[in-house]
Formats: sequence, structure tokens, C-alpha cells
Amino acid sequence: MSISIKFERIGAHTHIKGLGIEDGKAKFIAQGMVGQTRAREAAYIIVRMIKRGKMAGRAILISGPPGTGKTAIAIGIARELGKDVPFISLSGSEIYSSEMSKTEVLMRAIRKAIGVKIKDLREVIEGEVKKIELKMAPHPYNPYQQVPQSIKITLATTDEEKTFSAGMEIAMAFLQQGIQEGDVIMIDKETGKVMKIGRSKDSPRLYDIEGEEYVETPRGPLIKEREFVYVMTLHEIDMRRARGGSLLSLIFAGEGKEISSDVRREVDEWVKNMVEEGRAEIIPGVLFVDEIHMLDIEAFAFLNRALESEMAPIIIFASNRGFSKIRGTDLVSPHGIPMDLLDRLLIIITEPYNKEEMREIIKIRIREERIKISEEAVEKLVDLAEKNSLRYSIMLLAPIKELTEIHGKDEADINIVEQASQLFSDYKTSSRHLKEYEKLYLP
Ligand SMILES: Nc1ncnc2c1ncn2[C@@H]1O[C@H](COP(=O)(O)OP(=O)(O)O)[C@@H](O)[C@H]1O
Ligand SMILES: [Mg+2]
Repeated sequence: MSISIKFERIGAHTHIKGLGIEDGKAKFIAQGMVGQTRAREAAYIIVRMIKRGKMAGRAILISGPPGTGKTAIAIGIARELGKDVPFISLSGSEIYSSEMSKTEVLMRAIRKAIGVKIKDLREVIEGEVKKIELKMAPHPYNPYQQVPQSIKITLATTDEEKTFSAGMEIAMAFLQQGIQEGDVIMIDKETGKVMKIGRSKDSPRLYDIEGEEYVETPRGPLIKEREFVYVMTLHEIDMRRARGGSLLSLIFAGEGKEISSDVRREVDEWVKNMVEEGRAEIIPGVLFVDEIHMLDIEAFAFLNRALESEMAPIIIFASNRGFSKIRGTDLVSPHGIPMDLLDRLLIIITEPYNKEEMREIIKIRIREERIKISEEAVEKLVDLAEKNSLRYSIMLLAPIKELTEIHGKDEADINIVEQASQLFSDYKTSSRHLKEYEKLYLP
């Protein structure tokens, strides 16, 4: 479940490539980031501290009104740290699940946010992708969302060709890395980690893709020993350990069952040994915890302890609340965070945007979602963002794209934007509407 949620949530932030800093200063527009310069510069200092190992035991709080880029900045931090650094996002309310205890949800999130970079001589399957058959299925909890279920891959070297079937994790890896027919890839046989090496020189070239590397089609057998550098999260290692026998198979079970503390202790031991032997390196990633006021006192205590442990991720909290009650107590505190945790926090504040900043952010999202739209229509969206919220205008982009198609136009005009905003309300209008509606019933 967590995979698809992550998929969806990151969706609105695909344009964020970094913090957009040059010589320690935030450029007005860079790497998909716009304005919010003080927060971005502060975030950049955090990145430097993390890289120098000076964040141990500390956490960050990003505080600001909704839609001011708290999540965007957390993602910017993760991008600056590099592509091998895990980024996990969790919303406060997600810890209350019927399948797992609160601490298990948190423990999992923490272990997903710690990477282990392993350098090893591995048995790999290496070849050019000849054919991909992806099987999608409705999400178990959300039938309108399609998630990859399994994949059939035909791989070939100059001498051999074979078809493999694999499960959800490999299917996801193919989707996330955008692997296509004609790519040369490597799959670690034991762990199922997928690595794209480049595009085959012999593959048909429809158009040149920027930054694409062209490589020879591998020779010899498909399965061979190779040095393989890969990052696994502690959670992935836990899951494989917990499943025991299935380590060698390419077919993976889903998330499911709780992982015992024995398994985790064994995994920690194993990782520590690997590090001591110089075969592995620990990469603390980012755990982003949104809607922090939804956490309760037990969850806070758990996170506080986690920050003290030897292997801890960088925890970034986000809050859009002022003073509120700490859940599970009668105490009121800033952001609903207990004092002992507040003491560990470096706080970054995000400020509301002005019109110009909103315009630039909306334009970036329009480009990102490949929408054709008139200048006048863009201005309408900027007005709507100012009157309602930035997020509202960004949310309208998808319906606008649908409406443009329905009307058979090749560009969205101001009428389409207006129609979209009439069909879909912002939250202020919708709650006002409910209030008036309630009056009809109340004595
Ligand atoms: N400074 C910024 N530069 C570029 N995009 C931004 C910026 N701030 C917000 N966004 C985008 O605007 C939308 C709302 O911002 P978000 O980060 O979700 O706000 P918050 O987490 O504070 O509620 C997202 O799509 C986000 O990527
Ligand atoms: Mg957010």
C-alpha cells in the first residue's frame, strides 16, 4: 500500500529537482523551485550539515501555512542529497492503521528511510530488454488506481535470449526507472534490484533523449557474475530476512505481516558486519512526517528514541498548526509537539506566496503536466490561487486537461478554467456551503 501512496503523493512535486542554490544563495527560479528563498537557503544549510554528519540526533520542522512548499522543500533536500538517498513520506494520520500497530508503522517508515549501499560480486542477469509485458491490477484498497502486479521480461545478449517472470517490486522498478524495450539492464538475481545501464546502440532510435547513454548489447550468457553496487533499505533487508527461503526468487510477496524484533536485530548485526568489512556503507535517508499534529504522545516518544539510535534517518516534520493539544494528553504545545522533541528541532518557516511567485509555480506545473493553455487562462488560474489557494489552482490543472479534450480544443482557454472552477470547489467554498446547508436542518 505504501508504494502507491508514495507514488501519488510525489506526483505533485515531480518538478522539484533540488533547492536551486548557487553560491549559498537561492536563485528566484531554479531547479523547479520558486521564491521562498529564506527557507530554501536554510534547507541548504541542513543539506550541508547532513553531508558532514552534523545532524545526528537532531530533526527539522518545516512550519508554515498550507500550500507554502513544505513538502516541496523536504523533497528538495532529498534531491540535493542524491539519488541513492531514500526519501520516505508519511502522514501523521497514517500511523493509525488496522493492520499494524502504530510503532510498527513508524519502525517500518524509519527502516525504509535508511539505505545500505552494498558493493558486491553478484550473480546478475544482464541483457537488452527485448520485450516487456506489464500486468496492472486495481489497487487492493482503491480499485480506481492501477498498480503494477507482475511483469514478464524478455532479455537478450548477443548469444542468448530468455523470458523471466517477476513480481510487483521489479514491475515497480521498471515503471519508476522508465525502463523500455531497447534498454540494457542488470538485475541482481538474489535481491531483484534493477539497474539501468543505458540504451542499446542497436535499438531503434525514434528520437534522441537528452542525457541518454548508448551502450553495446552485452555478450555471452545472460546470467553472470558482476560487481554490483546497489542500495537496499533496512526495511527491504528485513522483509527478505523475514521471508527466509524466498531470498533467491524474483517473485516477491507484498507488504503484509509484522516483522519480529529478532529479525531486525539479525539484520542490524549483518549490516554492521558488512560495514566493518568495508563491503557496505550506511546512507541515512529522509523520513518526512507531514501533519505532525496527528501523532500522539506514544508516537512522539518512539520517534524521540529513534533519533538517539545509532542508525537514524534525517527526520523532517511539517506542521501547519499553531498551538494545539498533544494527542493522548491534555497538554497544549507549539504544533502539538512535546517539549523534549521541540528541543531537538531546527525550525524552518515557510511564508505565503505573492502573486508573481504563484504565477511561476503554476507555469512550472503546467509545463510538467504538459497542458496547452492561453496566457489569459493562466492569469485566471493565478487569480484563483490568490483568492483560494495555490494548491487549488494546481489541483484544477488535471480537470482542465480533461475539459480541453472534451471540448475538442487544443488549448485551454479562460472559459475552460472558469468551467473547471465552477465544477470543483475550493475547500473554503465547500465548508461555507456545508455550514449553510446545516442551517436548514438545525432548529
Ligand atoms: N517554492 C516552490 N517552488 C516550486 N513549487 C512549489 C513551491 N512551493 C510549493 N510548490 C508546489 O506547490 C504545490 C503545493 O505545495 P506543497 O509543497 O504541497 O505545500 P505544503 O506542503 O506547504 O502544503 C506543490 O505542487 C508544490 O510542489
Ligand atoms: Mg505538504
